[in-house]
Amino acid sequence: MKNLNRRRILSIGGLGFAGAAVTLAGQAQGNNQNPPQPMQKMSQNGRFADKVVLITGATSGIGEATAKLFAKEGAKVFFCGRREALGKQVENSIRSKGGDATYMRADVRKETEVKAFVDACVTRYGRLDIAFNNAGVDYPPNPIADTAIAEFDDLMNTNARGVFLGMKYEIPHLLKVGSGTIINMASIGGQRAFANIVGYGASKAAVIHMTKMAAQEYGKTIRVNAVLPGAIDTAMLERVERDWKVTKEQLVSAYPSKRVGKPEEVAAAVLWLASAEASYVSGVAFNIDGGGLG
Ligand SMILES: NC(=O)c1ccc[n+]([C@@H]2O[C@H](COP(=O)([O-])OP(=O)(O)OC[C@H]3O[C@@H](n4cnc5c(N)ncnc54)[C@H](OP(=O)(O)O)[C@@H]3O)[C@@H](O)[C@H]2O)c1
Repeated sequence: MKNLNRRRILSIGGLGFAGAAVTLAGQAQGNNQNPPQPMQKMSQNGRFADKVVLITGATSGIGEATAKLFAKEGAKVFFCGRREALGKQVENSIRSKGGDATYMRADVRKETEVKAFVDACVTRYGRLDIAFNNAGVDYPPNPIADTAIAEFDDLMNTNARGVFLGMKYEIPHLLKVGSGTIINMASIGGQRAFANIVGYGASKAAVIHMTKMAAQEYGKTIRVNAVLPGAIDTAMLERVERDWKVTKEQLVSAYPSKRVGKPEEVAAAVLWLASAEASYVSGVAFNIDGGGLG
């Protein structure tokens, strides 16, 4: 990170996570609402019994929590990620609690792998009902002139093109079923023009726009929404702490909730958007950020 002082970083936000106009000394008090706990037992009679759910990037973090919650509520979950050992671990964890999940290695930057992954889901479970295009990467902050082209390209290829490829190959299967829903992973960094994250912010803004376009194009049959988390407690947030040299408390000190979110809280919102309860909700950029920045 070049030429960026800490005060400036905190005032602009990190990866779309951080609050505006916070002070280094500001100690945050978290709100006292109880986030949902990681699920223990899987149910075959839950909200998503008989639904087939595809998730990109569920080897860790928000994707993993969402895979577990969908399985807990009865869904059959087909998911990818590049780290095979972690993928198998998540699959085994779900199965050991009576859930149904299948991991397949796939890289969302590669068209042939995304197509093969989506097709393999339908071969394995017979149909597709719900897709959560979640896979994403981050890089350390830099102003535009100091941003490496390879990093910008990787952010766009993973976070934006990966979502495009997912939708491209998921939509025909959803149309075949005659209904369905897609949830795309964006970020508050795609909504606000935070400084020093040009590739991340542009890729997430593209996700929000593609989501709204897909909702327009397929609205008669498929609902398409985007989720925009703030600071969520995953490995990505740990990288942000390290790369931006800030603490979690500093990152969230300008947010009303005064605490980071849990992956299970994003998962719960994704499940609601995928559920029949959200049957008239489409084309929405859904913030999950503890109250936002006003
Ligand atoms: N944590 C936050 O505060 C926050 C806030 C806003 C938005 N988000 C978004 O939430 C999503 C999940 O991030 P996280 O916080 O849960 O961090 P994470 O634990 O690092 O999860 C990222 C997931 O994406 C997968 N992934 C990355 N590149 C991939 C590729 N080329 N092909 C397939 N899978 C890939 C990773 O799997 P492999 O490494 O195994 O491939 C992993 O499962 C990301 O899109 C991120 O931008 C996070």
